[in-house]
Amino acid sequence: MNGNFLWGGASAANQCEGAYLKDGKGLSIMDVMTGGSKESKRKITNGIKSEYYYPNHDGNRFYDHYKEDIALMGEMGFKCYRMSIAWTRIFPNGDEESPNEAGLTFYENVFKELKKYNIEPIVTLSHYEMPLHLVKEYGSWRNRKVIDFFVTYAKTVMKRFKNYVQYWITFNEINAIEFMPYYPAGLVIQEGESRDQVIYQAAHHMLVASAKVVRYAHEINSENKVGCMALFGVNYSRTCHPDDVLKSELTNQDFLGIPDVQVFGYYSDYQLAQYKKKNVILAMNTEDEEILKSGKVDFCSFSYYMSMVQGEHREGESFAKGNMVAGLENPYLKKNQWGWQIDPVGLRITMNYLYQKYRIPLFIVENGLGAEDTLLEDGSVHDQYRVDYLEKHLSEMKKTVEEDGVPLIGYTVWGCIDLVSAGSGEMKKRYGLVYVDKDDCGKGTYKRYKKDSFYWYKEVITSNGKNLGRNEL
Ligand code: BG6
Repeated sequence: MNGNFLWGGASAANQCEGAYLKDGKGLSIMDVMTGGSKESKRKITNGIKSEYYYPNHDGNRFYDHYKEDIALMGEMGFKCYRMSIAWTRIFPNGDEESPNEAGLTFYENVFKELKKYNIEPIVTLSHYEMPLHLVKEYGSWRNRKVIDFFVTYAKTVMKRFKNYVQYWITFNEINAIEFMPYYPAGLVIQEGESRDQVIYQAAHHMLVASAKVVRYAHEINSENKVGCMALFGVNYSRTCHPDDVLKSELTNQDFLGIPDVQVFGYYSDYQLAQYKKKNVILAMNTEDEEILKSGKVDFCSFSYYMSMVQGEHREGESFAKGNMVAGLENPYLKKNQWGWQIDPVGLRITMNYLYQKYRIPLFIVENGLGAEDTLLEDGSVHDQYRVDYLEKHLSEMKKTVEEDGVPLIGYTVWGCIDLVSAGSGEMKKRYGLVYVDKDDCGKGTYKRYKKDSFYWYKEVITSNGKNLGRNEL
């Protein structure tokens, strides 16, 4: 890997910070989501109800532990840390005229701490945490006014942190709006609404907002780099039957229809044809096309957890579970404890696919294994399964860069310090290289423990990816 390669880890404010009302923070959409499990989905409640536990209220208490956590990242040799800013710490309701100074100070302190260890922050502006007030009062991204609220927030933090941050990501997994619209866009589809119309209109507003923010980032510092962030694992064809092949290829196109706009600066003909087919009529202002065109992103970041299989579904056949979306089961792959299929080679195929399409540098900003870990009495956690998973994915990543010539800015392991799962709300679905003593009900000391994977990753980074083998443990 080249000497500037950004090795690191990733998190999201709502899943790690906790302190959900501290120092003037407002409620975000994740603050009204209950815990869940493999079997039962998380609920969105109308306000906070005493009968439920809301795991994001505590996260892993990064808000209080950030110095210790960043020191651990420094010890592993992180070159970068992908984090997000909670919009509700800066503008608690989203529509205020001036920001909350305490929120800005918190992030300033985090950035100062990162600087001590020469860790480059990669900052997502909106990672599943928009202000609840904007959802209730304005209907969320359905409403064009939200563009201005987001742009004001983005400009505030970009200006304030100009000397600390050069890598920005506008929306986490923007295309997840098609599958789970609540997460990226705070949307709950109401009875009588056309799901497609609401989703794609909201996505359009997000795209315009994203482009405006990209423009601003470039204006204030020509060195700033802004990325889109796509949820994407390549879709395989179940068989070589042309119908299956067509289905898998069109599914790939469907997945990327929204990120395409961020990269190319316009809607693809394919995407517009889909809107026509779905009777979606986008309300656009005259200047929107120009805004999209002038706000193209500099890199394409993405999350990769699994590939998927598309084709004719046969009776009695089960579907594979997955991150937001499901596909057919792939008989050649093993699964994690949550049923997600594990496919390191799929990462190579995915990277090649994205690069051939976009021709801008890629950044793997999420990848990792959610697994149950056991903390032993001596404080150790033997997570060889996670080392195996990461080792195989990194090995494919290296081949993609070194043998296929795909430019890659960096790699960040998802949930590097155990945090709350977005999908299930569980704590026991752990991704970290560092264990956090907290259970699914919020009980625990919140103490941090280094897992075996911690020492392994440190060696990976020290050797700049040369030593992936487990004998270095
Ligand atoms: C991504 C999200 O979709 O997947 C993260 O950006 C999330 O926020 C990650 O945590 C893993 O999913 P889960 O449901 O296992 O937490």
